[in-house]
Amino acid sequence: MFDLDQTIKDRHSTRKFLSQPVPRALLDEALALAQLAPSNSNIQPWRLVFAQSVRRDRLQQALLNQAKQHPPNISPLPSAFQHYRQELGAQVYGAMGIAREDQANRQLAVLRNYEFFGAPLVGIVCMHQTLGVADALSVGMYLQTLVLSLTARGIGTCVEVSLAAYPEIIRSELNISPELSILCGLAVGYADPDFPANHLHISREAVEKNVLFQSN
Ligand SMILES: Cc1cc2nc3c(=O)[nH]c(=O)nc-3n(C[C@H](O)[C@H](O)[C@H](O)COP(=O)(O)O)c2cc1C
Repeated sequence: MFDLDQTIKDRHSTRKFLSQPVPRALLDEALALAQLAPSNSNIQPWRLVFAQSVRRDRLQQALLNQAKQHPPNISPLPSAFQHYRQELGAQVYGAMGIAREDQANRQLAVLRNYEFFGAPLVGIVCMHQTLGVADALSVGMYLQTLVLSLTARGIGTCVEVSLAAYPEIIRSELNISPELSILCGLAVGYADPDFPANHLHISREAVEKNVLFQSN
């Protein structure tokens, strides 16, 4: 058994992985735990397709080719939220030694999303296209349960919505049905301890900024 509080504190995004494979037995344990996540009407809407070894490499090559020719369209955030992205960029790129005005290296860093940051395993998180917001919430609960279960086993992760920029490439490389919406990717592997950005703990607001209690 693992200490939940400690696991939650330990989890953070990994952006450089070792090539060392993830033991299938540990992955299966985490998947079995994640399967216990709650969902709207218990429909368990999450669908997860993993790519590893040759298939993973083929997917990477196809995504990289596409991202180099047609850089991802990173949609702007509503103005009230923009500063969070800027602060995150400053922390992550700062730890990677990339200056704010160094556009060339920033673009290269963005491309690393499509190499899954070197993770030997990448999951594609999907949901049936007819489902809605409550079901996407259920997939999110599943994903966090999976990520925490992996963290507790010493395995690093990075949720990657960036992969959803090229759904047709992923669909054709992994034979994913057109009935499924591709929500995001999940890079899975052992974190490279020598990569400073893997040791970041990205700041959070005080709870009071996000949570309100009302009594009368
Ligand atoms: C839905 C979702 C999508 C994300 N997409 C990306 C992504 O495409 N690339 C990336 O490097 N990080 C991505 N992240 C990681 C976030 O940047 C990260 O969770 C956040 O900055 C907090 O940092 P932490 O995970 O280290 O605590 C994503 C996280 C979530 C939950």
